[in-house]
Amino acid sequence: MLVNMKEMLADAAKNNYAVGGFNCSSLESGMAAVRASEETGMPFVLQFAPVHEQYLAMSVAGPLMLQLARAAKTPVAVHLDHGSSVEVCLRALAMGFTSVMFDGSALSYEDNKAATAAVAKTAHALGATIEAELGSMPHNYNGELGNYAPEDFYTKPEDAAEFAGDTGVDALAISFGTVHGIYKTTPKLSFDVIKKVRAATNGLPLVMHGGSGLTDADYREAVSCGIRKVNYYTYGAIAGGRGVYDLVKEKPEGLQFHDIAVRATKAIADDAARVMRVLAGKI
Ligand code: 13P
Repeated sequence: MLVNMKEMLADAAKNNYAVGGFNCSSLESGMAAVRASEETGMPFVLQFAPVHEQYLAMSVAGPLMLQLARAAKTPVAVHLDHGSSVEVCLRALAMGFTSVMFDGSALSYEDNKAATAAVAKTAHALGATIEAELGSMPHNYNGELGNYAPEDFYTKPEDAAEFAGDTGVDALAISFGTVHGIYKTTPKLSFDVIKKVRAATNGLPLVMHGGSGLTDADYREAVSCGIRKVNYYTYGAIAGGRGVYDLVKEKPEGLQFHDIAVRATKAIADDAARVMRVLAGKI
């Protein structure tokens, strides 16, 4: 069932859980996320990040995701992840995405706010929801922080209050110590940042990026502090790769590609279902 993020985030806030935002970089990863959702009964956000155009063009991913969502038995929002320009957000909305993220985290605070507000106006006029980002995460995609300290990137609660009020966003991605990609060292998370931003924004649904690779205890704590959506990709993709590796060991000869696709889908779905249950407080 194709929906936007509004009701699922409101229900998550009311009942103190989080939904997953799963990136679709292939037919298999999209199918796997839907399977996990139907197995657990959890609504979720099926999202496409333009960084994955190297594997799947957005022009193909969009209709694919929309069809997967329409055919799903559970509520599924089709969302653009990390839309770094107004144009790409408008392109997604024109394709029928029910939600977009405008990522202006590389812009100045004022430019981010102005562009986010403009995208929010169009998204809302079309019945879609919008996520924005304030504060930023080091975008190095390998889990290493280099010369930066995580706290240099943390979202400032006082900025978040004004930003949320002036833009009317439905969800806000915040920086509190997570990074995209593989964690080479244990992340230094500040749950206090989540609590303070939540209080400053009157309970606006907050989004964790770089969500895969944390401990179950971290997920539970982040949810209890106000995270309502967890973006999850890298460790799900690794689970898919491990599933294929095991299959190749079991049957080194005569494997056909569809066997690989089926095993990868199952491995990604099993991993996603486990995460959905943790975020829902079911395990
Ligand atoms: P990971 O790939 O680190 O799980 O992050 C996903 C994400 O934040 C997508 O926006």
